[in-house]
Amino acid sequence: MLEDLQELQKAAVEDIQHAADLTVLEDLRVRYLGRKSQLRQIMGQIGRLPADQRPQLGQAAGSAQSAIQNALDVRHQSLQESIEAESHLDVTLPGRAPRRGSLHPLSQLIDELSDVFRGMGFDLADGPEVEDEYHNFDALNTPADHPARDLHDTFYLREAGLLRTHTSTVQIRVMENQPPPVRIVSLGRCYRKETVDATHHFAFHQIEGLFVDQNVSFADLKGTIESMGRQLLGDDTRVRFRSHFFPFTEPSVEYDFSCSICSGEDTRCSICKGTGWIEIAGAGMVDPAVFTSVGYDPEKYSGFAFGMGLERMAMIRYGIDDVRLFLDNDLRFTRQFSARG
Ligand code: PHE
Repeated sequence: MLEDLQELQKAAVEDIQHAADLTVLEDLRVRYLGRKSQLRQIMGQIGRLPADQRPQLGQAAGSAQSAIQNALDVRHQSLQESIEAESHLDVTLPGRAPRRGSLHPLSQLIDELSDVFRGMGFDLADGPEVEDEYHNFDALNTPADHPARDLHDTFYLREAGLLRTHTSTVQIRVMENQPPPVRIVSLGRCYRKETVDATHHFAFHQIEGLFVDQNVSFADLKGTIESMGRQLLGDDTRVRFRSHFFPFTEPSVEYDFSCSICSGEDTRCSICKGTGWIEIAGAGMVDPAVFTSVGYDPEKYSGFAFGMGLERMAMIRYGIDDVRLFLDNDLRFTRQFSARG
């Protein structure tokens, strides 16, 4: 009988632990502890046993009963808990979308300009931000005593070198490393010693373009700039060239795009102030002295170069009124330029 009890307890606890749901558990309770259960039958027989066997079997039956009851309680609670957990799970709720990152407006413009020029057959070139005087000035026909250096005051490093003041350095680095023809654009950061205000910053970005081959003419420069203007600001954008001076181009021009906002009638226009023109940047035919400094034959090759500040273009395109915002790293600013969708 003692053995029967132990086996019964073991089988009961095992069944109970595996009960799949509350109905099965209730059946098991009736089977193992109910009035007609084997345990009850055994208990009923204990009274009829010889007196010396009664205490031992009584105790064994009691502990089997409480072990089974305990297993029932534990299983009941865990089934109950998983029912509650399921009732809190609403599979029809929409998912929690992760916050989408976004590209900085200048990075967006850089990508767009890269596409525009790749479409016209230009390669992308890169150059260092920490430069030497030779690539930033001398090779660009701007010797140490040239007054144009005053407009490009910058940060000189203690050991040697300086932070480049324009991306024209990349023209030199590319031509030093490959023979003509050359057709590249370079986009990157530049520095000048500027007092920071809403329209000036000591760190800014430029795009540089360089096209060198036989018989490259000013008409090629015009067509390229015009195509860029139309792709950036719209098909009816016009370009105006004004004569200017740069040491490394001859002739040199500054070019303006027609105002994409007001077409010149609104003196309060924040972009053109009613002139109808947005002053964009400089360009020109590569000066023969620059070709000589990189070992190109100026009799055989001609070319054009252009530069453009990116901040101003980004301010026009995105309606930004303070250049400092680009470098503040304020997420409330950058998040406004995330692609929606
Ligand atoms: N590097 C000139 C500047 O930063 C712009 C420029 C580039 C002009 C190429 C002519 C040709 O002012």
